[in-house]
Amino acid sequence: METKIKKLSGTEKDRPLLEEAAALIRAGELVAFPTETVYGLGGNGLDPRAARRIYEAKGRPGDNPLILHVAGRDQIPPLVKEIPEAAEKLMEAFWPGPLTVIFAKSELVPPETTGGLETVAIRMPAHEGARAFLACCERPVAAPSANRSGRPSPTEAQAVWEDLQGRIPLILDGGPCDIGLESTIVDVSSPLPMLLRPGFYSLADLKRVLGSVAVDPATLRQVEGDEPPRAPGMKYRHYAPRLPLILVEGEDKARADFIISQAGPDRPLAVLVSRETLPLYAGADHLVLIPLGRREKDEEIARNLFGALRKIDESGAVLAYSESFEKGPIGAAIMNRLSKAAGYHIVRV
Ligand code: TXA
Ligand code: MG
Repeated sequence: METKIKKLSGTEKDRPLLEEAAALIRAGELVAFPTETVYGLGGNGLDPRAARRIYEAKGRPGDNPLILHVAGRDQIPPLVKEIPEAAEKLMEAFWPGPLTVIFAKSELVPPETTGGLETVAIRMPAHEGARAFLACCERPVAAPSANRSGRPSPTEAQAVWEDLQGRIPLILDGGPCDIGLESTIVDVSSPLPMLLRPGFYSLADLKRVLGSVAVDPATLRQVEGDEPPRAPGMKYRHYAPRLPLILVEGEDKARADFIISQAGPDRPLAVLVSRETLPLYAGADHLVLIPLGRREKDEEIARNLFGALRKIDESGAVLAYSESFEKGPIGAAIMNRLSKAAGYHIVRV
């Protein structure tokens, strides 16, 4: 299958292209589209065949549920059993935006979309192009991140192309994503709301709106076999470059010295670094430095993270290291993605 990439301008001129994309969705085909978090691989959220196509195109295990994307809140009642007060509060505070809410699902949502679960994840993105596309589709659009399963999520159209060319008919190119990390996921299907995946909105943001919020332990560390994460997708190897990646925690200078000491003529290393700590590597040999931005601006690190993880594989290095980035409101989400990308290989110096 030929995969076309077509640019969105963000103006009225996009209308024919959005109609073309929506027609593909209505016909059960898949379309990749930009959101403010990462690119999504969209398919009709109420059509089991479209769900199966999504799993096939991504190479994704069938027990890993999809998020339904909507253009407006009026689309939600038919999809859910009830809208709890916590959900009302979250939607009021954070929608449209990078937050996914998990509800008890109605009969309308096929089990293929939810990986057999009795709950359904729903999100209303803030990205204008995404909203216009979803409005044209006139139905909820199931959309996981538009990467091959296990790879870093795509934050630009080129990355979608790398992973899915030949597998889908159309990629809508809206340029680079603003946030760069996937949405925060909160489950409100039981009485105590629970954070399942950290994102741009932090635990503190959620607590401000909801009062108490539980945190799925799987968001903080590797889960053991008998303790599956509440978001099934979080148990799979994720975000990973092809090269092994090691995450180094510690004070700036000690971290840089340790990483430098690991490099050698037969051991060129790719290193994810911040702008502030870049000078600590000056003069060191056998390093390919991949800057992520300023740690003082954690949104910059978040925006560049997945692109940088993809660059590791083009660096010519044999192994990759990353500095740690726990500070700032998005620090927890950045470290969650980095720890997974490193397969929880973390060194403390
Ligand atoms: O920002 C985002 O959320 C992006 C963009 C495209 O919107 N989408 C995204 O989808 O990250 P995906 O499929 O890559 O990640 C969805 C996560 C998975 O870990 C999945 O297990 C979890 O959400 N999830 C989906 N439905 C769920 C449910 N009913 N209960 C628990 N976890 C669920
Ligand atoms: Mg994903």
